[in-house]
Amino acid sequence: MKKLWSGRFSEQTAKITDTFTQSISYDKRLWQYDILGSIAHTEMLSKQGIISSTDAELIKKGLQEIHDEIQRGEFEFLEELEDIHMNIESALIKKIGEAGAKLHTARSRNDQIALDLRLYVRDETNKIVELIKRLQSLLVKIAEDNIDTIMPGYTHTQRAQPVLLSHHILAYYQMFERDKGRFVDSIKRVNIMPLGSCALAGTTINIDRHYTARLLGFDGVSSNSMDAVSDRDFVIEFISHSSMLMMHISRLAEELVLWSTTEFSFIEISDAFTTGSSIMPQKKNPDVAEIMRGKTGRIYGNLMSLLTTMKGLPLTYNRDMQEDKEPLFDTVDTIKLTLQCLIEMLPEIRFNKVRMLQTSSEGYANATDMAEYLVSKGIAFRNAHEIVGNIVRYCVDKNKGLSDLELSELHGFSNLFSDDIYEYLDPSKSVHKRQSFGSASLNSVIQQLQEIKKSQQ
Ligand code: ARG
Repeated sequence: MKKLWSGRFSEQTAKITDTFTQSISYDKRLWQYDILGSIAHTEMLSKQGIISSTDAELIKKGLQEIHDEIQRGEFEFLEELEDIHMNIESALIKKIGEAGAKLHTARSRNDQIALDLRLYVRDETNKIVELIKRLQSLLVKIAEDNIDTIMPGYTHTQRAQPVLLSHHILAYYQMFERDKGRFVDSIKRVNIMPLGSCALAGTTINIDRHYTARLLGFDGVSSNSMDAVSDRDFVIEFISHSSMLMMHISRLAEELVLWSTTEFSFIEISDAFTTGSSIMPQKKNPDVAEIMRGKTGRIYGNLMSLLTTMKGLPLTYNRDMQEDKEPLFDTVDTIKLTLQCLIEMLPEIRFNKVRMLQTSSEGYANATDMAEYLVSKGIAFRNAHEIVGNIVRYCVDKNKGLSDLELSELHGFSNLFSDDIYEYLDPSKSVHKRQSFGSASLNSVIQQLQEIKKSQQ
């Protein structure tokens, strides 16, 4: 197969050079964007009178046929034609001859790949935003179904204070809201049209880049041809936002793993989302959640990979940049599959409300509420902290909980205790006493849910 750039060469490339430099094995997934971009480019060339409308029609018809062949799985991708751009262009020239050879006027593969990638990232970003929205609705549903379920909240993985499961779950809603915001915001940097920057310097031919941009739904046109063909910030940004998203998914997955242990017994994940052990018959392992946590590493790896590829490159395009695709594609596939899996798994989780409530009153999780009780009676917080610390030590010695203490025992520490202290010590009551904005109380959760509903309108 004659290469499209073979003019100045007298010998063939080595077979291993073809194998080493090819990207068609993975960039073929950009085929639709490549054809879309070529059709818009053709229309622009024709509008500008750079090619005749007859040639433009031939090119568009040829590209459409190639489109259909690829869609039907009948198109033969050839390694020796390197990449998606030259596979399609060669097929076009083979199909329509001379007219096909005009398609690459005022265009280079350097701006062409930048265009294809931007179209691809734009589409995938929108799909990921939709998946995040579905995930968030499920979290809202779990929060609504468990609006007043009490559970222990943790710091340092030690029982800290009673909270509401709904509040805990909505914490993830908030993380995913920020993730979604980052993806949405990135679109304005992605949606800039690079085509017409050509190899690096633009062209002497009278093209209309703004017209091409309008045809392809871009918000703007790149202002610097050298930047346009060198820039992979938008890919790095996409993987970076994906890394943050995966970090949040991983933390959620970690809690699901932890909560499903016998030690916690806060949740049970259905059989459909767990697997067994080949040796230990009793095992029901949370592998799906574990793999979600595990896949986070490869996304961070993809981010490091591309940052490193880009860091030492002089302007403008360098072939190293071909290495942007596999980390990007892997990120897209991993993120989408993980989100879909999480969306299917969440409704399959059963919460053990009785166990959650029971553990919220163990481990002195109500000690802060006791200290706040004393503050409400006029004691300085530091002193209240000290008094309750002494009471906890007393209870540990006697193997008692705070709410097991008689009023007479409490009076040994402070005579400000009266009957109403027991309300503060009962997690199902104390949680609702929280008044601060954004706190773990029923009112606060109701308010959060209202804000969420409003933001979704
Ligand atoms: N396959 C190339 C890439 O992915 C397309 C651009 C090639 N440009 C070049 N001058 N060889 O980066």
